[in-house]
Amino acid sequence: MKNIHSYWAYLVLVILIFTVANAIISLAQKKKFTDKDLRLGLFTLIVSHIQLLIGLAWYFMSPWYKALKADASAVMKESTARLLAVEHPTVMILAIVLITIGWSKHKKKTTDTDKFKTFAVFYGLALLLILSRIPWSNWF
Ligand code: HEM
Repeated sequence: MKNIHSYWAYLVLVILIFTVANAIISLAQKKKFTDKDLRLGLFTLIVSHIQLLIGLAWYFMSPWYKALKADASAVMKESTARLLAVEHPTVMILAIVLITIGWSKHKKKTTDTDKFKTFAVFYGLALLLILSRIPWSNWF
């Protein structure tokens, strides 16, 4: 489960970066919002939700959850344990909530510019949150 979570993360990052860059470039060039843009946003939503499920499944069987249950204050005092047991899961869930809000908000927008703007803001913020709390040293 940990390995799947680790490999799936590449897919999440690549597709999310691509969707955010596409939204910003399309906004700047005043492009039309096409089926391709819709599918990109939807694919990012699906890929990140799958990562959420894999992450949750791994979390509850991981040593980090057990450590948190056994001695929460010791976990909070140690930065690596705190990152893996608390910060990473919480911030990633928040990021996926932002992606979900962005997806549903974009559907209500009526102009191409507003649709791209919604993706740029919500998916962009999610990307920043994700980048801020990936355990980089464990990953590479
Ligand atoms: C967009 C969402 C997410 C991304 C991109 C992501 C990415 C990653 C990456 C790159 C690692 C390091 C993997 C490694 O050590 O090889 C990791 C570890 C971990 N993730 Fe996530 N994650 C996400 C969501 C979640 C969620 C929602 C949870 C739990 C609720 C979670 C729980 C964990 C745990 C417990 C680890 C520690 C693995 C270990 O060293 O035992 N992740 N994640």
